[in-house]
Amino acid sequence: MSKPTFYLTTPIYYPSGNMHIGHTYTTVAADTMIRFKKMTGYDTYFLTGTDEHGQKIERKAAEAGVSPQEFVDKIVAETKELWKLMNIEYDDFIRTTEDRHIEIVQKIFRRYYEQGDIYKSEYEGLYCTPCESFWTETQLKDGCCPDCGRPVEKMREESYFFRMSKYQDWMIDYIETHPDFIQPPSRANEMLNNFLRPGLQDLCVSRTSFKWGVPVDFDPAHVVYVWIDALSNYITALGYGTDHDELFRKYWPADVQLVGKEIVRFHTIYWPIMLHALGLPLPKRVFGHGWLLFGDGKMSKSKGNIVYPGPIVERYGVDTLRYYLMREMPFGSDGNYTNEAMLTRMNADLVNDLGNLVSRTVAMIEKYFDGAVPAPGEAQELDRALSDHFEALPGVIEEQMDRLQFSVALSEIWKLVGECNKYIDLTQPWVLGKTEEGKERLKTVLYTLAECIRGIAVHISPTMPSTPPRIFAQLGVADEDLKTWESVRKFGGLKPGTQVKKGEALFPRVDIQKELKALEGGEAPGKQDAKEPDKKAKKEAKPEAKKEEAAPGIATYDDFTKIKLIAAKVVACERVEKSEKLLKETLDVGNGETRTVCSGIAKYYAPEEVTGKTVILVANLAPRKMAGQLSEGMLLCAEDPDGRVRLLTVDGSVAPGSEVS
Ligand code: ME8
Repeated sequence: MSKPTFYLTTPIYYPSGNMHIGHTYTTVAADTMIRFKKMTGYDTYFLTGTDEHGQKIERKAAEAGVSPQEFVDKIVAETKELWKLMNIEYDDFIRTTEDRHIEIVQKIFRRYYEQGDIYKSEYEGLYCTPCESFWTETQLKDGCCPDCGRPVEKMREESYFFRMSKYQDWMIDYIETHPDFIQPPSRANEMLNNFLRPGLQDLCVSRTSFKWGVPVDFDPAHVVYVWIDALSNYITALGYGTDHDELFRKYWPADVQLVGKEIVRFHTIYWPIMLHALGLPLPKRVFGHGWLLFGDGKMSKSKGNIVYPGPIVERYGVDTLRYYLMREMPFGSDGNYTNEAMLTRMNADLVNDLGNLVSRTVAMIEKYFDGAVPAPGEAQELDRALSDHFEALPGVIEEQMDRLQFSVALSEIWKLVGECNKYIDLTQPWVLGKTEEGKERLKTVLYTLAECIRGIAVHISPTMPSTPPRIFAQLGVADEDLKTWESVRKFGGLKPGTQVKKGEALFPRVDIQKELKALEGGEAPGKQDAKEPDKKAKKEAKPEAKKEEAAPGIATYDDFTKIKLIAAKVVACERVEKSEKLLKETLDVGNGETRTVCSGIAKYYAPEEVTGKTVILVANLAPRKMAGQLSEGMLLCAEDPDGRVRLLTVDGSVAPGSEVS
């Protein structure tokens, strides 16, 4: 049986030479979606490309002293490099300067003209050159372009017009009777209320004042202007209108067309009308996503607030950026980008939650079972809760991904990650590992964890394609069948006896303050020279400047940084024999490691009161013996007003191993 098809497009990008993380937002979302659909059994096709014509490019090329074609060729090559860096796997990259596109645009234009959809007239209007849009007086905002805020110019010239008005009622009816067509639904109301119901104006579709465009073959003074040229890429790339239109017949209509919210109007009014006039079906869904904001505005070169992906990818890995983009804001809404939020997510979700889970589990399988995944025994309630969660997850993810709710899907996956970490706290493998009976139980616990990690690796693969191979390598999963979507519908695929192998930490833990300082001290992605996005990225944070002198009794910053404080979780606690003062705590210090510390708090706490607390450990004190016990560090304490010693604990859920700074 043949697979169902899934055709997805991104907008085609202006070759502005200035691609920032806002641009990568659409492509990363598209790539994530396409990988998900491919994994779940679809025959997929993913199109992206570049929108290379127009007055703006013509002017920029002239300024640079090169031909428009030379100008765009260079930038298109850089754009393709960027998509490689972001791990974007498209099936086709269409350029509007390619013959295969130009020939069909001319054919389409002629057909519209011959069937009376296009007529010649004269245009007078207010024109925004950077946006290539005409505006009416009432649409202006403070006398400037309502999209970009820049000044507009008065223009008058002979032009061809598309009779949009003829299709207005049909378009209103289509949107009203196809509630899924425009997503999110709020954008459909915006189109109906702001553009369609007040009356659709005919659209200027050709220009004579510049040459860099697709010539109208029956009237060569004109070039096809912006939208008929740009929008038709979605079908010219598939061979529409040629003798080789197999792809078009197979994949059109598109299943999803992803666009930023500022171009929803063109994709949900003009584009559908253009298709309808050709007698073609409309895309099934057009999804208008929100903007990634930086400070209080959309990233743009003119505002000088651009963040480039190169340095972020180089410092923290492509999956960190992809995860952040897809996780941080609901798809459809705007969201602010800050380096701090990105680093905080990385440390919390990737280093602590996922990275620690993998390294702890693999370390424990190595420690207790010589690295061989143990065969599980009879499942108890706790184990069943996890395996049920594992089996329920694919259905939840399919539903969220179908709605393009990437951030919800990821947070659902992270619920399973969180459940696994909680399961470790509850089952206490380090205690089980001490007795033979406990070790029997430990087999089930560690099998359950390893199997859940396999499932998690499969689930994250569309968003974070480079991470699962590293997890599978540590888990020893080589069988391709265990990496499929089908294999995670049922718990228990992982074979007992599989040999695990501890590897490098999946994600580097960073000191956020230090990284921010490094980023803001000139290596900041937002502070780079626009022409050389990648050059300033360095692996290491900048070294501290000059050494400070210490006044007597004052610790310098350097003195302070010598002391390593970390959050640690007390997983077991008991009295120390022959000592009235001491309690011995076993601490989870992250990465699957534990430590033993003795503290003089036996007078103030019963052991069971201490277990479960997350405390602050001085982690780099030289170990010493106390009442015959080795103590590897010290817990921070303070006296309360009654003179009782209290342990210092943390606010909220700080993961074991997190550095205190
Ligand atoms: O619009 N946040 O090209 P483009 C989120 N050529 N998305 C952003 C963004 C940000 N800060 N900045 C840009 C064009 N984008 C036309 C399209 S289609 C027939 C023609 C998104 O290079 C933007 O919303 O200006 C759009 O979806 C894509 O990047 C390309 O923008």
